Amino acid sequence: MIQATFPSYRPRRRRNTPGLLALTRETRLAADQLVYPLFIRPKDTFRKEIGSMPNQFQWGYADAERMVGDAIKLGVRSFLLFGIPDHKDAEGSSAWDSEGVIPTVLRRLRRAFGSEILLITDECFCEYTSHGHCGLIQKKGERVVLENDKTVANLASQCVVHAQAGADIVAPSGMLDGMVAGIRSGLDHAGLEDIPILAYSAKYASAFYGPFREAAESPPQFGDRTSYQMDPANRLEALTEVAQDISQGADFVMVKPALAYLDIIREVKNAFPVPVAAYNVSGEYAMLKAAAQNGWIDEKRAILETLGSIHRAGADILITYHALEAAPWIKGG
Ligand code: PBG
Repeated sequence: MIQATFPSYRPRRRRNTPGLLALTRETRLAADQLVYPLFIRPKDTFRKEIGSMPNQFQWGYADAERMVGDAIKLGVRSFLLFGIPDHKDAEGSSAWDSEGVIPTVLRRLRRAFGSEILLITDECFCEYTSHGHCGLIQKKGERVVLENDKTVANLASQCVVHAQAGADIVAPSGMLDGMVAGIRSGLDHAGLEDIPILAYSAKYASAFYGPFREAAESPPQFGDRTSYQMDPANRLEALTEVAQDISQGADFVMVKPALAYLDIIREVKNAFPVPVAAYNVSGEYAMLKAAAQNGWIDEKRAILETLGSIHRAGADILITYHALEAAPWIKGG
C-alpha cells in the first residue's frame, strides 16, 4: 500500500467539514436492510408491552396489521415473526398446525399488504413446547439433549406449513444438525422450491437472550441450551456451522447475537459469498434502552453507532428491535 506520511499527509484534512465527512464515509446503512421482529398472540385485538424491552409489544392479529401499516410508512417492510401459541405440549405440535398463530397472521398480513412486505418466520419449537426447549427432548437430567433427527422432521413440517400460509423466507433457529437439508427437502417435495432459507447458522448460547424469553414466553423450564447452541468461546466452529448450512442449501446465514460477535460476523462475511444477517438481540436492546432511560447515553447516537457497527462488521441484513425508530434516521442510506 502506498501511503504518504506527515506532514504531506494530514488525515484530519478529510474531516474538516460535514461535506467532506459525508463524501468519504465508508459504510452506510439503509432502512431496506432492517428486519423488525414481531411477537404474535392468537387474539384479535391485543397489545401488551414487554417489561424488559421498553416500547416492544406482543401483538394480536388486528394490532399487528395496524403496526405493520405504520412500519411501512417509516420505511421498514421486512418482519421476523414469532408465535406465542395458547397450546403447548412436549413436542410443540401447534407449531405445524395450519390454523395456528403464525399461519393465521401470515395469511392476514399477506391479504392486507400483498408483496409490499417481506415476511420471515422464525422456525423453532421453544415457544411451542411445554418444557421450553427447541425440539424433542432425548435426555433430561443434568444436560438436556435434543432428539435431533425427529426434531428436524418436525421442523420441515413447520416450514412447509408456514411457506404455504405465505412466508417469504423460513429461518430455522434451533441449531439442529442437518436442519437446512431437512427443510430444503421438505420444501422441495411440497413444491416450494422458491422459498429461501435463512439459517441461524452461528447461534451462541448467550445471556443476551434473556428479555426475549419473556417476550416469547419461552424460557427453558429446566436445564439450558448449551447442548445445542454454540459455546461463546468458539470461532472456528462458527465457520464450520456456516459451511455446513451453505452446503445443505442455505440461501443466507446468520450470526447471533451481534455485538459480542462482531468478529464472527466479519469472518463469515470474508469467507462466504452469501448475504450475512446479524441479530441485534433482546439483551442488546434492553441494555441500550436502560442506559438511555437513565440519561447515561445519547440514545439516538448510540443506536445509530450500534447498528452502523454491525453493518461495518459485515452484516448485510440487520434484525433489530430498533428498526422502527432507526429507519427514519437512516432512510436512503
Ligand atoms: C429461539 C430464539 C431465541 C431468540 C430468537 N429465536 C431465543 C433462544 O434461543 O433462547 C432470541 C432473540 C432475542 O434475544 O432477541 N426460537
